[in-house]
Amino acid sequence: MAGDTSPLFRARVLFVTGKGGVGKTSVAAAVGRLAAAQGRRTLVVEVDNQHPTLPVIFGKPTAYEPTEVEPNLSICNIAWAPALEDWVESIVSMRRLVRLIMKNRVVSLFLQVTPGARDLVMLWRTLQLAKRADLVIVDLPASGNAVAMLSVPLTAERLFPAGPIRRCADELLEMYARSDTRLVLVALPEEMVVNETLETLHKLERDVRGLTIPLILLNRASPPTFTEGERSLLSALEAEAPPGTAMAEVLGAGRWEEGLEAATGDALARLEVTHRPVVSLPSLSRADGARKVTTQLAAAMARASGVRVDFRGGT
Ligand SMILES: Nc1ncnc2c1ncn2[C@@H]1O[C@H](COP(=O)(O)OP(=O)(O)OP(=O)(O)O)[C@@H](O)[C@H]1O
Ligand SMILES: [Mg+2]
Repeated sequence: MAGDTSPLFRARVLFVTGKGGVGKTSVAAAVGRLAAAQGRRTLVVEVDNQHPTLPVIFGKPTAYEPTEVEPNLSICNIAWAPALEDWVESIVSMRRLVRLIMKNRVVSLFLQVTPGARDLVMLWRTLQLAKRADLVIVDLPASGNAVAMLSVPLTAERLFPAGPIRRCADELLEMYARSDTRLVLVALPEEMVVNETLETLHKLERDVRGLTIPLILLNRASPPTFTEGERSLLSALEAEAPPGTAMAEVLGAGRWEEGLEAATGDALARLEVTHRPVVSLPSLSRADGARKVTTQLAAAMARASGVRVDFRGGT
């Protein structure tokens, strides 16, 4: 699996998104493990996730405050209510006053229903966390929601000429513009997923200007192993093999593998229009659990990037 993933694990803030179920959390955790193994203080963050996956991968529950799960590696889940309280406190730095404001139902209702307020506060929290770590990896919601969330600071900048929301938006846009703030799109070699990846990239470039998107990850890719000759042989043998025999079954497995390779080839060809490197990640067995998948993804990224790390003890 060729391709340098160092722009991901050498970032300072890394946003991860993609279609639902493509492997966003696994990739976020894998990049986190890789960065931590290289001595970077790393934090992997889920955003207000009702069914967080990081605890499944690392075997420890997540809370609002980071929990260390491995040397140099912590995880957390940004919940909306405490993030809002922290944000208000950053504006009116008196705890007692913050409680009074938060208790005021009109104020909290205003913040809850104002479009974008929630997303802005969540992003603000990631920015605060980034000040305490070498790398913060934000496991964003699936693409559509992620674009909506990331575009809020730009909208807020247009709507608010001054005030705390405007200051927060400005700070976030400054973060987006830094070259070490990056976003990675995770895709799969499937037509619908590639469609959504291309669409998301277009929307990000249109609505979330300034964010660096150094590469695309093609997860569960099957690199070509069949030669042209082997493909012709497969077709010739298929024509001969009587249906229902062991031979036909073996050939069927070969055809299945060939189909996966062809799908990977199609996806790689279609993603060329992004003018970005597409790094393939292997399709792994899920039988050993989510943690093992993450370890193997981290090892694959390390190999592809020429980095030597030891995931011993990290099964
Ligand atoms: N390369 C891979 N090979 C095999 N299985 C994988 C691979 N990458 C991820 N998986 C598995 O696929 C499942 C979904 O992965 P994951 O939870 O990371 O996706 P997600 O994009 O975060 O999903 P959601 O949109 O629900 O948050 C998990 O069981 C994970 O272990
Ligand atoms: Mg996930």
